[in-house]
Amino acid sequence: MTAPIDVRADAIELRRGGRTILHGIDLAVPAGGVAALVGPSGSGKTSLLTILASAETADSGTVRYNGQVVTPASRTAWAGRVQLVHQSFGLLSLLTAAENVELALQGLDRRRRPARGRLREAARDALDMVALSAHADNLVEELSGGEQQRVALARALVTSPDLLLADEPTAQLDPANRERVTELLLGLARSGATVVLATHDDDLSGRCTAVITLRDGEVIDGSAAGSVRS
Ligand SMILES: Nc1ncnc2c1ncn2[C@@H]1O[C@H](COP(=O)(O)OP(=O)(O)OP(=O)(O)O)[C@@H](O)[C@H]1O
Ligand SMILES: [Mg+2]
Repeated sequence: MTAPIDVRADAIELRRGGRTILHGIDLAVPAGGVAALVGPSGSGKTSLLTILASAETADSGTVRYNGQVVTPASRTAWAGRVQLVHQSFGLLSLLTAAENVELALQGLDRRRRPARGRLREAARDALDMVALSAHADNLVEELSGGEQQRVALARALVTSPDLLLADEPTAQLDPANRERVTELLLGLARSGATVVLATHDDDLSGRCTAVITLRDGEVIDGSAAGSVRS
């Protein structure tokens, strides 16, 4: 059972390397919404997702979850409920797929964590959702790029996040796995979670409840997302 999180960003500015990367971004995604951030390479999608996840601080502007301002310092209050799937996956390459997924469960607080004896089974169930059961015991470094991408998604999904931020979640996938992952993301939103993703995949963005287009660090189209349940 998920507890809804709505996300709102107001006037987000981000400067890096002497340049302004995000210029006063405003957006709102209600619980149950699936918002796609689209736009050319370098337009600021990853930077914005990182700010929305509160993994990085903006130079100015605010991110709110359910109306409460969230910062990297206050983020721990939301830990476990908010998951960011990085563009480069961030897996531990010398652990197996199942061990990577299980680690995510061990990091959850006790109320959200399955019983100790259930951790491995829950990890395997999550790998099954992304059709990777056969590779559960492979080291991540033995997996293909697309397989690693699905392990990274399984590692987020296993925690039943209330807010999932996913950076190009279908970028390395074949058509069958793209469809599987698209359905998993839409299904997560149908169950009440909020999903924000960055993508160059037109089929995926076309099935989202809102598409927010960035160019040179500005929103040039879209700003709010409906719910898949509405
Ligand atoms: N740490 C940094 N220092 C300096 N510039 C940065 C830094 N991180 C990102 N940038 C710049 O910010 C801009 C936006 O980058 P970002 O990774 O957010 O783009 P993106 O839309 O995700 O692109 P892609 O579709 O290729 O993933 C780029 O011009 C990039 O070079
Ligand atoms: Mg990116």
